[in-house]
Amino acid sequence: MNNEFEQRMAVVTGASSGIGLAVSELLLQRGARVLAMSRSLGGLGALLERYPEQLFWYEGDVTREASLQGLAERAAELGEVHYLVPNAGIAKLAPGSDLQAFDEQWRINGAGAVNTFYALKAQLAQPASVVFISTFLRHLGFVGLGAYIATKAALSSLVRSLALEHANEGLRLNLVSPGPTATPIWNSLGLPDDALASVAGEVNARLVDNEFLSSEAVAEVVLFQLSQGARGVYGQDWVVDKGYTLR
Ligand SMILES: NC(=O)c1ccc[n+]([C@@H]2O[C@H](COP(=O)([O-])OP(=O)(O)OC[C@H]3O[C@@H](n4cnc5c(N)ncnc54)[C@H](OP(=O)(O)O)[C@@H]3O)[C@@H](O)[C@H]2O)c1
Repeated sequence: MNNEFEQRMAVVTGASSGIGLAVSELLLQRGARVLAMSRSLGGLGALLERYPEQLFWYEGDVTREASLQGLAERAAELGEVHYLVPNAGIAKLAPGSDLQAFDEQWRINGAGAVNTFYALKAQLAQPASVVFISTFLRHLGFVGLGAYIATKAALSSLVRSLALEHANEGLRLNLVSPGPTATPIWNSLGLPDDALASVAGEVNARLVDNEFLSSEAVAEVVLFQLSQGARGVYGQDWVVDKGYTLR
């Protein structure tokens, strides 16, 4: 079977856990070389043992210009980049009055993602495919997550225009909006255990099979958007949420 990912180069940020780790692993399984960036090694340690020739870790922070510059320099050493997934993100609970919470999360979820794209742009192949990560909540409300959601909604809007701006350079930009996915991000919200369990119960009740998505289920869609199979798709934001937003 023809495998378009074989020997191609991918850059994934926020690759040490959750969805970024799953995207990295799937790309490696399909034969791609992956330059993975995160502040800590996390789950990439085990992947490095399994794919010592294909996987490269760059320790960095998407809010730091020097990190993004270093990432671009490392990519230039490894070869042109066919796939880019600026996935690094955080989610913090904050009251609606706390507008600083927007700034703090935008630095990573929005500016961090867009700056990653522009830092890597000179290394991107033509054609290249870029998939940003938004959220299923971008058209909904969720008490305490307003600032987080706003950063992702702004990113989704921005990427639509960027997709048009860069289409004639052979670059295809899209987004995937994961639904509730079983990753460490939920534990980092800052909720006590009992409150988290109660939120998880309410979320589960809206999912078709009452179970959070796996990171792998989201990663499969990201890989399809990266692939030639999605060559006609520009500036779209695909929700992968087991029906959460249908109810
Ligand atoms: N899980 C969900 O239900 C869900 C739903 C919708 C959207 N999303 C989005 O999916 C993406 C991945 O989240 P996840 O659920 O997989 O969460 P996760 O397991 O907490 O992973 C987040 C990743 O981002 C990295 N990261 C955080 N801040 C960073 C920074 N400043 N610089 C570089 N890397 C940074 C973390 O690594 P280090 O800490 O090692 O740097 C980690 O690898 C995020 O954009 C998130 O908003 C998740």
